Amino acid sequence: MKLSKRDGSLGTVAFRWVGLFAVLLILASCSGPEAPPDSSEDAVAEVDAGHAPGVYAQFCAACHGEFGEGREELHSPSITGLPAWYLEEQLRKFRAGQRGFHPDDLPGQQMRAVSIALDDEQIAEAVASIAAMPTRPTEPPSPGFDLEHARYRYANECMECHRYNGMGEVAFRSAPLVTLNRSYLRRQLENYRSGRRGATPGDLYGAKMVEIAGRLDDDEIALFVGYLGALAHGDDPRPARER
Ligand code: HEC
Ligand code: HEC
Repeated sequence: MKLSKRDGSLGTVAFRWVGLFAVLLILASCSGPEAPPDSSEDAVAEVDAGHAPGVYAQFCAACHGEFGEGREELHSPSITGLPAWYLEEQLRKFRAGQRGFHPDDLPGQQMRAVSIALDDEQIAEAVASIAAMPTRPTEPPSPGFDLEHARYRYANECMECHRYNGMGEVAFRSAPLVTLNRSYLRRQLENYRSGRRGATPGDLYGAKMVEIAGRLDDDEIALFVGYLGALAHGDDPRPARER
């Protein structure tokens, strides 16, 4: 793949490549694992590598990496560390058009195209493979980051649902945040803010994030994303008496 790294900017060239990937992978679903896509060297190499078996290797590895580490240049997040309930729910949302529905949400549309090609059994198999993969923490904030201020804001505005350790809470359907990569976290907060995610009727949990992100400006988004990196590396936002 000859993709240049385009951190943050969603280049159309990159998306044509990603589009090609999605189509190849969907075609691969019709012919089974013996016949991997024939015109993308990367996809073939990763499918043939044989380290990650079955549905994951066939449908997910090309974009999310052999071990779920994500591929920044394809805007595909790291997905290990996400629990089965969350993975299944988000895949269901993609399939139902509650994610990846917005014409300007190109990464979401890519993922939606993949999700539509899968049945429940394949999803369950992919989820089981992801659960067995090693996790990695969100990148730490850069030096000079205002940790104290960020910690205070997180404790007041996010901790209630995403918990003191950023691991989320199944009862609130709130995602774990500390294994996702920084560029992805930023884009999701921007997506909620602009209504590219969470804004379809009936998406009750997405609506909570639309409301929260709607109040944030770019600097605040950067602050929270930086703090999630600190949280991933052991910071504790709880007051001393609650630890
Ligand atoms: C064509 C590339 C591509 C393939 C193949 C692909 N994904 Fe994705 N996936 C993406 C992109 C891009 C995103 C980010 C979407 C966004 O920004 O909303 C994503 C997002 C996700 C998310 C949401 C993560 C979160 O934190 O909410 C899950 C879950 C996911 N993918 C699972 C899978 C699984 C399981 C497979 C294989 C069955 C798969 N993906 C195959 C590109 C891909
Ligand atoms: C009222 C509960 C609640 C609060 C408060 C809250 N969240 Fe969330 N958050 C959720 C839920 C529920 C989801 C999953 C929504 C969905 O399915 O789209 C979520 C999803 C997210 C995601 C997307 C994760 C992914 O894997 O794609 C990010 C990023 C996020 N929240 C960050 C934050 C930040 C930062 C704050 C504080 C400013 C915050 N949240 C406050 C409930 C909450």
